[in-house]
Amino acid sequence: MILVTGASGHVGGELVSQLAAQGRAVRALVRDPSAFEAPPGAEVAAGDLNRPGSLTEALNGVDAMFLLGGFADMPGVLAGARAAGVRHVVLLSSRSVVGGDPENAVVAMHQGSEAAVRESGLDWTVLRPSGFMSNTFEWQGQLRAGDVVRAPFAGVPIAAIDPHDIAAVAAVVLGRDEHHGQSHPLSGPAAQRPVERAEILAKVLDRPLRFEGQPDDEARAEMLGNGVPERYVDAFFRFFVDGEFDDTPILPTVEDLTGRPPRTFEDWARTHADAFR
Ligand SMILES: NC(=O)c1ccc[n+]([C@@H]2O[C@H](COP(=O)([O-])OP(=O)(O)OC[C@H]3O[C@@H](n4cnc5c(N)ncnc54)[C@H](OP(=O)(O)O)[C@@H]3O)[C@@H](O)[C@H]2O)c1
Repeated sequence: MILVTGASGHVGGELVSQLAAQGRAVRALVRDPSAFEAPPGAEVAAGDLNRPGSLTEALNGVDAMFLLGGFADMPGVLAGARAAGVRHVVLLSSRSVVGGDPENAVVAMHQGSEAAVRESGLDWTVLRPSGFMSNTFEWQGQLRAGDVVRAPFAGVPIAAIDPHDIAAVAAVVLGRDEHHGQSHPLSGPAAQRPVERAEILAKVLDRPLRFEGQPDDEARAEMLGNGVPERYVDAFFRFFVDGEFDDTPILPTVEDLTGRPPRTFEDWARTHADAFR
């Protein structure tokens, strides 16, 4: 049995669907099962990753686990998994950890989760993706209101990855001994600035979208207003304004591990077009 955390999220949701479609035994961990519709063939279990004691039932009979990072007691979550008989954990991290400054709060969060996994006594594999194409869902409200997209960090290209591809890699490595002790950096197929993603979205939606770069002070105020903790806002500004994180390198790893090239932003936009209409 494979336990997938973050099952209602972008990566975990894709992973539950892909594992179930492959006929593998999969259990989706969610905090509120009544708000979650599992794909056919998948089990659902309730649990809160900030409370390791709440995971006991969800972990029953599990031998491999897909885990998001950054929760209150990662060593506690992993100790519970080990006690339940889990053998392999696959952690969703970020490639910002590579050469990242541990004083940056996002880097520190991922480095701390990676360290907990390495020290857990479990077999482990770490996935270190680039920024996600699904971050574009942040434009949904603006696109419902009109044809203008205002977004931060307008000059910054990112080789964004489709969560579908992260999940496909996770499905390949979960439970496979040869990936124990490995950290796989992952990227999408092209480094694009937000304006380029807006142009592709405009083509897919057949709408005359106009992109405007958001000034940094406006972007900071909006992030804080949306409840993003200040230390993480600072971390994003260090990444993308101070230039601490180059998320442009295009890597062969998705194709190496899955046997097919990573999906393009246009693929992602076509799949999710209805969410912007
Ligand atoms: N976005 C990026 O560009 C990027 C880049 C690199 C790495 N990452 C990492 O990727 C992860 C996010 O992945 P994602 O986009 O697939 O997730 P997401 O769509 O943001 O959803 C978050 C998931 O976490 C679950 N969750 C939140 N708090 C929980 C808790 N206390 N206990 C159990 N589950 C909880 C949520 O479930 P509920 O239904 O219970 O809320 C939801 O399924 C983060 O660790 C992030 O740091 C993101």
